[in-house]
Amino acid sequence: MLLENHSLKSLNTFGMDVHARYFASFQEVDVLRHVLSLPPCRKGPLLILGGGSNVLFTADFQGVVLKNEIGGIALEKEDDDYFFVRAGAGVAWHELVMQTLSAGYHGLENLALIPGSVGAAPMQNIGAYGVELKDLFESLDAIRIEDGECIRFSKTDCAFGYRESVFKNKCKDQFVITSVLFRLFKKPQLKTQYGSLEKELADCPIAERDSLAVARAVMRIRQSKLPDPAKIGNAGSFFKNPEITLAEFDSLKKHFPDIIAFPAGPDHMKLAAGWLIEKAGWKGVRRGDAGCHENQALVLVNHGLAKGIDVFALSEEIMSSVHAMFGIFLHREVNVY
Ligand code: EPU
Repeated sequence: MLLENHSLKSLNTFGMDVHARYFASFQEVDVLRHVLSLPPCRKGPLLILGGGSNVLFTADFQGVVLKNEIGGIALEKEDDDYFFVRAGAGVAWHELVMQTLSAGYHGLENLALIPGSVGAAPMQNIGAYGVELKDLFESLDAIRIEDGECIRFSKTDCAFGYRESVFKNKCKDQFVITSVLFRLFKKPQLKTQYGSLEKELADCPIAERDSLAVARAVMRIRQSKLPDPAKIGNAGSFFKNPEITLAEFDSLKKHFPDIIAFPAGPDHMKLAAGWLIEKAGWKGVRRGDAGCHENQALVLVNHGLAKGIDVFALSEEIMSSVHAMFGIFLHREVNVY
């Protein structure tokens, strides 16, 4: 059941050519439970892969990699205002977005075309164009690795934050998410205030602005700015947008009047890390085959033969250069192994 020395090249969107000591995929919860009971899994380390779109492998993985392929999208219940839709953790995220929209369930449109799987989405509370997963989230089911028990997590249990959840913190490496229940709107609730989305929709008559039109606009923006992992290896935003206090922001703004930032709570601002990186001169820069994307400086790319350590070294260089110029520490969004 466990494969040995298995290539992960096609299983990570950076396209890093590394191997897992052991590997298995699972389509059902019972199979997962069985695999988890095998000695290499008991010993660890263990890594659960969804779409592989938020990982950077810098070396072979000396433990067990399990690929979550639990499928299925189904309407579980409804009330006057909402459809409750359950999706298997192995479903491709974009497939869920398009299937729910075509069924007339609204809410996921701003999250169109995000790479990755349903199960990985709550781990880092994925977000784009003014919407985060937590806005449409009802609960999730997960298997506790220690004893195979199925545990239900409510929204509060998940402790969602900006690209954060309990699964990156207190519960790290302890659970395998198996399905997610979404609470989707019966009536469209369009959120189109995000700058670039508003601009993209400017030519679309108000009467034609429905959830699908918003999804299409989001897809056009993403396709124009973000590199397609099928063509050029990448894991989306490599860094998080850093949050600083209003006082820190005011003093930065004196030195850099055109700095881009957005309010984040009553006394914090979120800086556009892409702007900081671009200003520090990194946009489009290459170190061999590791590069900073030419249209979105927050995205690091593999132009072909870069190794994980090359991308990692480039990220270190960018972090120290941004710190030297602005006094700001960037934090990686991507998980490094
Ligand atoms: N900007 C620059 N130079 C750049 C990149 C961006 O000046 O090279 C400026 C833009 O002009 C804009 C601002 O920075 O004024 C924000 O840029 P953008 O709208 O592209 O969004 P972002 O903050 O760079 C975040 C998410 C993305 C998400 C977009 C849209 C994070 C870490 N990233 O990027 O998420 O798609 O907003 O909502 O929060 C991801 O997490 O992998 C991801 C792609």
